[in-house]
Amino acid sequence: MIEVSDPNEIAALARDPNLDRRFETPTCPVNWLLLKRSLKVLSFRGHRFPTMMPRDDAQRTSNQQDLWNLLGEKVASIKTGSDELEPLADWVRGIGPDVQLGILVQQLLGQLFSSKFMATEASWDAAKVLVAAPRLNNLPLMMWWFVSGKVRRAKRLLAGMVNEDLSAVNAIGIAVHNVVKSLRQMRVLYANVQTRSGLSAEAAAEQCLFAPASVYRQATAAGQLGDCPYSRHSLFVLSIGEAARHAEGRSLVFMEDSWSRCPANLWIPAMLQGVWNRASVFSQFHDEKLSG
Ligand code: HEM
Repeated sequence: MIEVSDPNEIAALARDPNLDRRFETPTCPVNWLLLKRSLKVLSFRGHRFPTMMPRDDAQRTSNQQDLWNLLGEKVASIKTGSDELEPLADWVRGIGPDVQLGILVQQLLGQLFSSKFMATEASWDAAKVLVAAPRLNNLPLMMWWFVSGKVRRAKRLLAGMVNEDLSAVNAIGIAVHNVVKSLRQMRVLYANVQTRSGLSAEAAAEQCLFAPASVYRQATAAGQLGDCPYSRHSLFVLSIGEAARHAEGRSLVFMEDSWSRCPANLWIPAMLQGVWNRASVFSQFHDEKLSG
């Protein structure tokens, strides 16, 4: 297993044609366990989530483009702070408890895929199970989650809310946690009156972007990373969460220069700008009223 957190090395590996998400499990025991666990959690009824699909899968590529197009059409309006962002703008202003945020974000993402989507405490709990399961270090707990059907039930609940569209399950079960982190950060920025008045919406959104902690790749053939040779089936853990904190790592937040580019790479920053705009308009109005 090779863990990489240097932004330039990750960018080079993302371009390496030997590295893919085919994920063949006959490999060494540790890699086998890590891959098996992720594939088990991030699959539903025998189909992998899009984030676990190989590069040359035609259906994956076409779904990725379709979702990018769908979200792209919404970018201009959401950036202005459309009405659907009011609950999140309220939360950023400091209204509402911390526990409410997950449900609000899940609602916003779920509505992209189904107009009937209604996030609940149960669907938010399911999302927490889904994101934690591939990373559980506590082996007995991990076994219990699988044996008792906790992970299966979580996926069934989420998939049932979005017509079993696995891009949508990824959004409301996994990506939702990154967006929650963004809005937590935005609430902190907003709470400081000086920071609030000095930041443009664009700058605020940029300061609130966080990459997923890591993504997996596996070598389909032997190759070389710098001076380090790697063998077929080597597992690469690309620590984009850490790498994206460097100035030159911005494109890794959404793996923007890679075949695996996130389809929400423009929509998420636009949505965050929208929330900031909406929250700030209220604060200006409020400040003006106070000053008479
Ligand atoms: C702050 C929020 C988000 C971040 C930081 C993020 C980041 C990423 C990253 C880094 C990847 C590449 C994974 C890899 O290389 O293996 C990815 C893939 C993906 N993301 Fe996002 N994402 C976010 C939100 C979303 C949302 C809201 C959606 C759906 C509406 C979404 C849908 C997807 C899909 C479908 C893929 C798989 C693309 C493919 O390889 O075919 N993401 N995301």
